[in-house]
Amino acid sequence: MVNTKAERLFSGLIGEEYKWLHIMLPEATKMSTLIGEFVARSNKLNKEQALNVLEIGCGTGITTLALVNSREDICLTSVDNEPTMLNQARKLLSQWIEQGKITLIENDALSTLRELPPNSVDIVASAYTLHNFINSYRDRVLAEIFRVLKPNGVFVNSDRYALDDFEAQTQQVQAEVKRYFETLSKMNRIDILEQWIIHLFSDESPHHVMRTSQSLQTMEAIGFHSIEEHYRHGLNALISGTKPKDS
Ligand SMILES: C[S@@+](CC[C@H](N)C(=O)[O-])C[C@H]1O[C@@H](n2cnc3c(N)ncnc32)[C@H](O)[C@@H]1O
Repeated sequence: MVNTKAERLFSGLIGEEYKWLHIMLPEATKMSTLIGEFVARSNKLNKEQALNVLEIGCGTGITTLALVNSREDICLTSVDNEPTMLNQARKLLSQWIEQGKITLIENDALSTLRELPPNSVDIVASAYTLHNFINSYRDRVLAEIFRVLKPNGVFVNSDRYALDDFEAQTQQVQAEVKRYFETLSKMNRIDILEQWIIHLFSDESPHHVMRTSQSLQTMEAIGFHSIEEHYRHGLNALISGTKPKDS
């Protein structure tokens, strides 16, 4: 049976104190910047209108901030299903929310996408969210992203894309665990360390793990073209795909 139910993995301590991730994994901050730069370079599909961007899984708003600062003509809608994260995003982004440049939606990604008309979004952007999804849910989300994008619209994702080489993947995860221990035990935060280790087991589980070649194949099967890996550092990769003009 295909699973379309959203999980809530950030409702506890790791959501409340999400800032620690960016200390343990400085690469995550860089990936947010890269998403902003990617959107800044993107061509507008309709010169008369604002660039309509949908962000999946805005969390505390770190990538949202990079997106909203990427260009003047952006109109951003960001969705997340976790109130703990969204409350932090609301504080961080209050000035842009007041200006009407960002709309935050509390809902799960798949339901939000399903409510949108086809061919209505210029760019769908996401950071470190899709890898959290159960595989069947992720496939549904990707198909919906394709449906809501305008022809020539782009999906861009900076995320944890697991390596196809299992041995290399294990080495990366071991290095990650070591970094978590070094950072959090030094800070006496064994409580958060425990939660991140549990979370890592979820990321690496067969029904969640987002393996790179499988992900690119799924995107291709859905209909995306010009699928490209623009940047990679370890497990962190920036990947984009375009909806063909004539679809
Ligand atoms: C690791 S955080 C990344 C946050 C942010 N994009 C960043 O770059 O820091 C993943 C976020 O995705 C959200 N999320 C996970 N599953 C979701 C779903 N099914 N629908 C909407 N949001 C989801 C979580 O609540 C969490 O805030």
